Amino acid sequence: MSTCDLLVRGGHLATMQAALGPYGAVQDGVVAVRDGTIAWVGPEEVAPPELVGDPDRVLDVDGGWVTPGLIDAHTHLVFGGDRADEFEQRLAGASYEEIARAGGGILSTVRATRAATSEELFDTASQRVRALISEGVTTVEVKSGYGLDVETELRMLSIARRLGDALPVTVSTTLLGAHALPPEFEGDRAGYVDLVCREMIPRAAREGLADAVDAFCEGIAFTPDECARVLRAGAAHGLAGRLHADQLSDRSGAALAARLGARSADHLEHTSDEGARAMAAAGTVAVLLPGAFHFLGETRTPPIGALRAHGVAMAIATDLNPGSSPLVSPLLAMSLACVLFGLTPEEALCGMTRAAASVLGMEGRRGVLRAGLEADLAVWAVSHPRELPYWMGVNPCRSVVKAGAVLE
Ligand code: NIG
Ligand code: FE
Repeated sequence: MSTCDLLVRGGHLATMQAALGPYGAVQDGVVAVRDGTIAWVGPEEVAPPELVGDPDRVLDVDGGWVTPGLIDAHTHLVFGGDRADEFEQRLAGASYEEIARAGGGILSTVRATRAATSEELFDTASQRVRALISEGVTTVEVKSGYGLDVETELRMLSIARRLGDALPVTVSTTLLGAHALPPEFEGDRAGYVDLVCREMIPRAAREGLADAVDAFCEGIAFTPDECARVLRAGAAHGLAGRLHADQLSDRSGAALAARLGARSADHLEHTSDEGARAMAAAGTVAVLLPGAFHFLGETRTPPIGALRAHGVAMAIATDLNPGSSPLVSPLLAMSLACVLFGLTPEEALCGMTRAAASVLGMEGRRGVLRAGLEADLAVWAVSHPRELPYWMGVNPCRSVVKAGAVLE
């Protein structure tokens, strides 16, 4: 009887285990998979023969590198329509905030999303998820936030759940009811925050539709006090907290996320040194979204030096959304994080593996190559993992393994 369902061999491993040095690299390494789980990882020459001697299947890496499956921990990939018209307006000089204040921006996607059928939303979102998988993604977070009424927010979350059932990817869902004030509640901000806290959150939690709750803390969105209400209501229903913080202005969002025990604070372009310090003390992960920085033509970068100095873990995500980051490529997100924010290629890969897993509360299950973890792997035709954020516009991903199954 075979002891191993799949043996991945013939190349090198970037395990991303911190204790193993840069990239957690293992030259001439193998990954043995049994029952969807990693059974053994290490150098081929010391692999236990009883584990790797007679595999059902061998995946030959052909001299390339194996990494943990990539984790895109911040997306808004379920949405109707697109906003290419606003892209043109911004290129002609209008700002993202001006467009939002004139009723466009997030609210234009809300109109398109409410009008779309669930099949349309599912089909367009599936195409985006498939594109992510083709670049090595095995876990993706998906937010609601383009419904802004109870029915459409829950509909978005169930579509996100359905994506995880239909496609070979783990989907983590986040309720982002506090993304923008819907037109029905103009002049009644407190009424809308009530709706989020008293109806959306309890229902999403009760129906098992959300794993986390998020809010957009910004001048064009919600105040720190309003966001705090939302994250506290989420926590009361067992949902982890996330926060869109300090993207366009410093609202002390990073410190707020830390104070509320949120798993992450995301964007952070305007975060202060104190914000970074508070995140470190609370163990809040920084989620860097260089696609939005690039696409909106921002000039102020997140305080990478302070985040590093204080020891804040840094994740990277696509922020895939129609307004600020129509980026459907985790590799380009890593590349932009290096070029625009000054991350090292190793920090970039950690940002889409180990650090991203902790944003989703999946450390110990995914994000590194280690025995006992889910067998989610990506195989790359590169001669060193620093090539992953180096190439632009080519996809060196050769194979993806999800829970032990090689995707065809
Ligand atoms: O993460 N910042 C807020 N939310 C999104 C943008 C959403 C939109 O413009 O549709 C973001 O950048
Ligand atoms: Fe976002």
